[in-house]
Amino acid sequence: MILPIYLYGNPVLRKKSKDIDKTYPNLNELIDNMFETMYKSDGIGLAAPQIGLNINLITIDARVLAKDEPEMKDFLRVFINPKITFNTEDTIGIEEGCLSLPGINENVDRIENLTTEYYDRDFNKITENLIGYPAIVVQHEYDHLNGIVFVDRISTIRKRFVKNKLNNIAKGKVATSYKVKL
Ligand code: NI
Repeated sequence: MILPIYLYGNPVLRKKSKDIDKTYPNLNELIDNMFETMYKSDGIGLAAPQIGLNINLITIDARVLAKDEPEMKDFLRVFINPKITFNTEDTIGIEEGCLSLPGINENVDRIENLTTEYYDRDFNKITENLIGYPAIVVQHEYDHLNGIVFVDRISTIRKRFVKNKLNNIAKGKVATSYKVKL
């Protein structure tokens, strides 16, 4: 089932999400729906707050980028209750976008090497070192779980440039090819 994507301005994107366990109702179905929603909207990552749920759950399928970014090969993941430890202070920046902020693309500096501990969809505990693009994608989605969106991390000058766009999104004055919710 395709779910509506909550837009910038909705308070659900600003709340801190909570951990879940195996007893969370219809979790498998929810994960399937998140993937379906993500594919339908041409996204490579989706965090549960973006579909209106403040729970620590992320879906990522960035394999489509493998042609240009070889690190993305096989980067298909479900992250439940992820934690991140940064392994360096070195940053890399690429132009990011977000399904909750349609029409905005801005460069964001991210830490380039991290370790993440999380549970997969079968609740196996995983520890994974991520470097480069996969680390960027995970940080973007992990931010959503903490009520942070990528424009919070751009320069003051760039924030001024995107202010009108953000106001329009929050008012629903935005065209998308996918279902959204204010
Ligand atoms: Ni996003």
